[in-house]
Amino acid sequence: MITFNVKDRDGKQTAIEVPEGISLNLMEVLKGSGYDILATCGGMALCATCRVQVKTGAEQLPPPGDAELDILDTLPSIEDNTRLSCQLRVNESLEGCHFTIPPED
Ligand code: FES
Repeated sequence: MITFNVKDRDGKQTAIEVPEGISLNLMEVLKGSGYDILATCGGMALCATCRVQVKTGAEQLPPPGDAELDILDTLPSIEDNTRLSCQLRVNESLEGCHFTIPPED
């Protein structure tokens, strides 16, 4: 199992457990877990509505790719360690991470 923590917009923190070896990204897992994430572009790194703040474990995640960096650059104000959840594969790199879902724009 891969376990990571998610804090929603109401401040409620939940541990999410996902079986190893599934071929999903974090956005898909968060939506599937009932989190209110729009993901209007469907995971194409175009809308940034799937963004999360990485509070713990940012250094263990793969670095953002060009498409992710480009869209993050367009956001007016973001906190450090903001990532697009659709660009994060769910694998052992997420183990123990803490993510916060930021307020909607
Ligand atoms: S779902 Fe649109 S950028 Fe991630």
